[in-house]
Parts: sequence; C-alpha cells; structure tokens
Amino acid sequence: LSSERKLFNWFRKYKINYILHLAAETHVDRSITNPSQFIKSNIDPTVALLGAFQKYHHLNKKRDLRLIYFSTDEVFGSVSKGSKPFNINSKLDPSSPYSSSKAAAGLIIKSWRKTYNLPLSIVYCCNNYGPFQNAEKLIPATIFRAIHSMPILVYGKGKQIRTWIHVDDTVSAIYKILKNKNYNFDYFITSKNVFKNIDCIQLLCKFLDKLTHKSNINKLIKFTEDRPAHDEAYLMEDDLNLKKIGWAEDVDFNNGMLKTVEWYLDNIDYFLDSKKTYKSLLKVGFK
Ligand code: TYD
Repeated sequence: LSSERKLFNWFRKYKINYILHLAAETHVDRSITNPSQFIKSNIDPTVALLGAFQKYHHLNKKRDLRLIYFSTDEVFGSVSKGSKPFNINSKLDPSSPYSSSKAAAGLIIKSWRKTYNLPLSIVYCCNNYGPFQNAEKLIPATIFRAIHSMPILVYGKGKQIRTWIHVDDTVSAIYKILKNKNYNFDYFITSKNVFKNIDCIQLLCKFLDKLTHKSNINKLIKFTEDRPAHDEAYLMEDDLNLKKIGWAEDVDFNNGMLKTVEWYLDNIDYFLDSKKTYKSLLKVGFK
C-alpha cells in the first residue's frame, strides 16, 4: 500500500477528527550536511498526508475535521538589526535546506487549502525547550556536553537571537487552536523569552552548577566555527488571533529552564537511546 492509502485507512479505522502534522527532520546542522534527506522527509510525506486527508474529508464533510501543519519562524529567514519582527504576511526567505523544506511544504498546504477548500491551518512556532527534546538541539546538547565535561560549543560569537517557548505552552496553544472552530487562520506561537545564544548557554551553566554542586561549568564553553548561513535573529509578532481565543504564555523562563535541566539530569539515560546522536554531539564543525 502507498503511504497515502495507509494514512487514509488509519483515519477511517480510528475515526480521526484532528490531525497534527509535527513530523519532520528539524536539525539545521544535519540539513547542511545532508540536504536531500530533508527534501525527502519533509515534502513528499506531507503531500501523501494531504492526499489522504483530502479523500477522508470528502467522505466526512459534515464532521469537524482539522489538519494543522507545524512550521517554524525559520521560514521567514533572519530579522536584521532594527527591522520589525515577522508578521503573518512576511515573505518567505529561508536560509537553510531545513527551513526551505518547511517553507515548501507550507506552500503546498496553502495551495491544497485554496484548491480543495480543506480545513488546514499552519502554525509558525519559535524555538521550543523542555523534556524529551531531540538531543541535537541547543539546550539538551549543552546539558549533555556539560555532564560529560566536553566542550560546550557556541557557534560563532553566540550573538544570534532566538525566541524560546516551553513545550507546555506550545501544547496549550495548539489545544486552543484545535478547539476554535474557525480554521481559516494561520497562527504564530511565540514568546517573550528572547535571548542571545550565549546568554541562554550561560544561564544553563548557572543552573548546572547549582544542580550538580559544581562550579564554573561555563569554563567548558568553546566558541567554534559558525554555522553556514546562520540566521542572526528570529522574532515574531504576537498573534492577536491566538490571544482572542484565550491563549497566553504561562511558563516562566527561568523556572522552566531550571526544571528542564533538572529533567535531563534525572533522565541521563535519555541521551544514550540513540548512538547516532551521541556520536554527532562529539563532533565539531559542518563538514
Ligand atoms: P538549534 O537548537 O539547532 O535550533 P535552530 O537552529 O532551529 O534555532 O540552535 C539554536 C541556536 O543555537 C542556533 O542559533 C544555533 C546555536 N547552537 C550553538 O551555538 N551550539 C550548538 O551546539 C547548537 C546545537 C546550536
């Protein structure tokens, strides 16, 4: 059976109402070393999902069906100094093979929405943090390296700016979006927590010192070769439609980060699950 057919059969078998499309290859560094994998993983399967959803929707027109595609602030490229944050009409300007694959899949979603009049929404989200994150991402990677007394890698000078949201707040936003009957909106899920990478890493080191009763873990910080085409800053406007449907950020950044560090320290085995990840964390550079 084709992927489309399998998905369609699942939707029917389990009488699915809401579909959250969060599956993707997401690590920018990997997309730089292996771009074609990102095009394969992030585009074709999205089209298969849309095909299955289209058929399923056709058979269930009276039901409240929804498909939400999870995208990223990265599709808009970088906010340069002094410029305004991205808004929902900002032009797509992706910098990496990862973000271009997400931008492409998002455009495909939009065209399906117009052509087939399907209940599809796109959510653009800022950087998430919290438990169970893929160990290649900045926060778990930094904790992992600190635990193993390895160099904590900071790309370039660490001046890049990212917006951080706790995964619990992302989940509550998605829940509100699903419960809202008006599916004609795309949404921005963003946060007040805007930090330079180096400040974020220093904060992690402070919490690691506190929780492991060590001192000066930040001595492990090592500035390395910068990521090619490294976006300087991601900033998104607050989404008034999300406010209107009752969502507000809840998790305090310092507390959320402290709890996150605590979680990884209590679940050190989590890192050992994937040998591939373990190896990639030992590596420096993009070749
Ligand atoms: P990352 O978690 O890969 O998310 P994204 O690239 O999608 O924003 O990286 C967050 C930021 O941290 C990004 O600017 C790259 C930087 N970074 C480092 O400085 N060192 C690291 O080891 C990693 C993984 C990321």
